[in-house]
Formats: sequence, structure tokens, C-alpha cells
Amino acid sequence: MSVRTIEWRDGELLLIDQRRLPRKEVYRVCRNYRQVAQAIRNMVVRGAPAIGVTAAMGVAMGARHVRDPKNVEAVMRNVFETLADTRPTAVNLHWALERMRGVYEANRHGDLGTLQQRLEDAAVEMYDADIAANRRLGGLGAALLKDSRRILTHCNAGALATAGYGTALGVLRAMKETGMPLEEVFVDETRPFLQGARLTAWELRKEEIPVTLITDNMMGYVMQQNRVDAVVVGADRVAANGDVANKIGTYTVAVMARRHGIPFYVACPTSTVDLSCPSGREIPIEERAEDEVTHIAGRRIAPDGVNTLNPAFDVTDHSLVSAIITEKAVVTAPYRKNLRNVCVP
Ligand code: MRU
Repeated sequence: MSVRTIEWRDGELLLIDQRRLPRKEVYRVCRNYRQVAQAIRNMVVRGAPAIGVTAAMGVAMGARHVRDPKNVEAVMRNVFETLADTRPTAVNLHWALERMRGVYEANRHGDLGTLQQRLEDAAVEMYDADIAANRRLGGLGAALLKDSRRILTHCNAGALATAGYGTALGVLRAMKETGMPLEEVFVDETRPFLQGARLTAWELRKEEIPVTLITDNMMGYVMQQNRVDAVVVGADRVAANGDVANKIGTYTVAVMARRHGIPFYVACPTSTVDLSCPSGREIPIEERAEDEVTHIAGRRIAPDGVNTLNPAFDVTDHSLVSAIITEKAVVTAPYRKNLRNVCVP
């Protein structure tokens, strides 16, 4: 695998600093759970599955630093609260913390060393399971897209956004691995954080997948010019009715895809599906700092004092979604029934 996003090494966590890409490939070392929380909040690591796995490793790290068994309860309460309070929209973060809480609850009355080991094992297992899920959904997606050669994607749903391989980009990787002819992948730049221009373009170039970078406002043009066969994006949370929260601008892409009769696919592991959330209306949308809008690459582009709005995600209505590609199955409408069938064990 060409990109190493997250690495657990002897109780420390190494994260490629995604704010510095593509210019610099530097790794940050997190030595305690507070540093892990900070790395998630500041987008050193980002992407729904990646922040879930990172948070799980933060829990393992929090437990590892408990010295006196009498303090476990208080320390772990802080660890869970601090990590949960980093980013609200991607459900994978909360899903991962709930899983880790289950492991904690099952082992907290035993010996401290065993608890620490169990939490570490669970976090590493989650890392491996995420890569395996991405590979499976990539294969299912590649089969679904067998007649598509020109794909458009938004944001970064690649190896960088997951433990490895990627979701939307996992589908493209699987297409390439199975020898399918990928003619062109259009990558929206994805203002304001530029995940498309900085991260997706970088990943695809490394994979030698033909990439054409466009600014967000060119997407309608390329569709109108009949240059896109299918759209594939990732997701931060899929509600029980199939509404999809993903990077801001995804909704616009979905509307334009429908206007031009282009299928709009969402690729995500089942850990991104939140059956407890009835519809997109209940998904919390993160608002980020205004300097992401007023500045580009650290340089101010807007007048001082201008009002801004910076929602990091939007919700695409399920009626615009052609299919949701998960590791278990490709799910189509009616989503409420079919997501439940696939996601409830
Ligand atoms: O704000 P980000 O960069 O964390 O947002 C990421 C996205 O919106 C991705 O498309 C999504 O998490 C899917 S990642 C496989």
C-alpha cells in the first residue's frame, strides 16, 4: 500500500500530517490521548474511518498511561469524553468509541495490565478490519462500475481517510487492480480545505491512476460536456433512510449528477451507517473556523471583517443516491429496509 496514514508503534501513534500534504510527507507522533484528540480536531488526521480508528488508538493510549488501578474510572471517563468531543459529524468516531467502551466495560474490573492489552488489541483489530472492509467494498464497487471509465469524485475518501486502501478511492484502486480501463478521474478541489486538490490528486498520482483536477465550480461543465460516466464519493454518516452526510459540496454534485442522468454512488463501510439516526435532518453538521474560508494556504483572500459561513459537511437526500456500496453488499432503495437488512447482524 503506497500511503501509510496511521501506525501504532510501541504504544505511540504515528500520523501522516495531512495538513502538510502534498508538499511534505511528515509524520506526527502522538504520545498521549490529548495529543490524539488534538490531531483529530486540527485535521492532522481526517476522513470518517481514519478518525474512528485513531480515536480507538487514543483510548488504548489513555489506558496505557494509567498507573494506579484506583484511577482507571476517572481517567477513562476523561479519555472517552475528550475524544468524543473532537468532531461531531462522522459517526465512525462515535461508533469506534462505543466499541472501545464495550471492551473497557467488559474488562474494567479485572487486572489493569489485561485491560490495557485488551484495549490495544481491540484498536489494532479495528485498524485491520477497516482495511479489510475497504478492500471488500472496493471489489463490489468495481464490479458495479464495470461499464464506467470516467469517474468524478469529491473530497478525499482514500487511504488517507481510512486505515488504508480507501472507500471511494478503494473502488478506483480495485478497478485498476482488476485491469479495468480507467480513462479519467475528475477530482473536485474541495474548497475550503482542499482535500481533493491536495490529497486525492496526490494519492491517485501515486497509484498512477489518470487524474484531472478541477475547481469545484467546473463540475457542472464536465458533466454537461458528457465527460463523466459515474460519481463515487465517501460518507461521514449515512442515516437510516439513506440520507448521506459527506464533505460540503457533495449535495451539489449529486443534484448535478441527477440533472445529467449520471449515477451517483456512495462508498462506505457499514460502520458509517447510523441506524439510530432516522434521517439527514438529525445529523449534526460541524461548523469550522472562518479562516478556512477567508484564507487559502495561510494567505488572506477576503476583506477584513467580512461575514463567513463554514459548514464542513452537507446532506444529500437519499432520492439522489443510486446505490450505497458497503463491504457486505451494494445497497439500493428502499434504503430504510435494505440498510437495516445489511447492517443488522
Ligand atoms: O473534513 P474531512 O476531511 O474529515 O471530511 C472527509 C469526508 O467528507 C470524506 O469524504 C468522508 O469522511 C469519507 S472518508 C472514506
